[in-house]
Amino acid sequence: MTFRDFNAWHTPVLVEETMEALDVKKNGLYLDLTCGGGGHSAEILKKLGDNGRLYAADRDATSVRICEERLFALKATGQFRTVVAPFSALADWLPEEDRGKVNGLLADLGVSSHQLDNPKRGFSYLHDGPLDMRMDRSQEETAEKLIATLTQDELTCVFRAYGEEQYAARIARAIVHARREMPIRTTGKLAEIVSQAVPPKARRSGHPARRVFQAVRMAVNHEYDELSTLLETIPDIMASGGRVVIISFHSIDDRMVKQAMRRWEHPCECPSDLPCVCGKKPLGRAVQRQSIVAGDREKENNPRSRSARLRAFKFKER
Ligand SMILES: C[S@@+](CC[C@H](N)C(=O)[O-])C[C@H]1O[C@@H](n2cnc3c(N)ncnc32)[C@H](O)[C@@H]1O
Repeated sequence: MTFRDFNAWHTPVLVEETMEALDVKKNGLYLDLTCGGGGHSAEILKKLGDNGRLYAADRDATSVRICEERLFALKATGQFRTVVAPFSALADWLPEEDRGKVNGLLADLGVSSHQLDNPKRGFSYLHDGPLDMRMDRSQEETAEKLIATLTQDELTCVFRAYGEEQYAARIARAIVHARREMPIRTTGKLAEIVSQAVPPKARRSGHPARRVFQAVRMAVNHEYDELSTLLETIPDIMASGGRVVIISFHSIDDRMVKQAMRRWEHPCECPSDLPCVCGKKPLGRAVQRQSIVAGDREKENNPRSRSARLRAFKFKER
């Protein structure tokens, strides 16, 4: 596979901005927890000296295999290790001796172009395929199962909470009605039901199934819980002066990241007009106050970057 092919697998977003925010130390320890096709991992690895190390992880085994190939082409093993695991397993696989020693951590959330553009993975309303949406294909629960088994109220909740979908209730009703006639097995069928359930005005602003597909994907992959667990684990594993970079593609994830970074910066919950009794001290500070977005050129060259928001945090020097 050539370098060009790797980028066809997934063109990484905000690479320069990520590298600047990570400020890779030659001999540091780095975690890329969403290695995907290895675009960001490769850039980190290139900056590492002989004593630097990288763990490249992803819950999608196919992505990890591709990333591994790409990293092998750059450096010998020993300097990097690949891991197939979700965020929630980080505390289990990260060796004891590396806790508190992580100089930089990257999470580039969501799905890769390879996952999204492959109809067999069932993530996209643009390509017809099985209603799957699992990032980890060893997982039992698929989108088809979820759409077949959740009650109308549960579907409404999922579409509201994870898709911020205005027409959640009527879409859930349409799904329950349709599945009584015939099981909903494909992305095409689900997209069609959603498109018919929303009023014509909702069909004019982007694809009407976009929010529902995002919501179902988040539910199938337990993305909210995964990100919450990661954000709780991060302060325990970072080194003095360690940097965290998180790239989000929708407002729910970005809000969670923003709130967590704010908590790390201002952990004290005591009333502001009283002396602090909790003793919780700031863990560090946000690298920039505002999130970083792609420039016009990147947005033009890589449409996926249009919704990307990068937030970075630097833990205190101890
Ligand atoms: C946007 S892609 C990352 C692309 C990567 N930065 C690159 O340069 O190719 C997101 C990746 O995160 C992975 N992912 C999403 N949620 C995850 C989780 N909770 N645990 C581990 N991997 C996850 C997906 O499988 C996908 O490969």
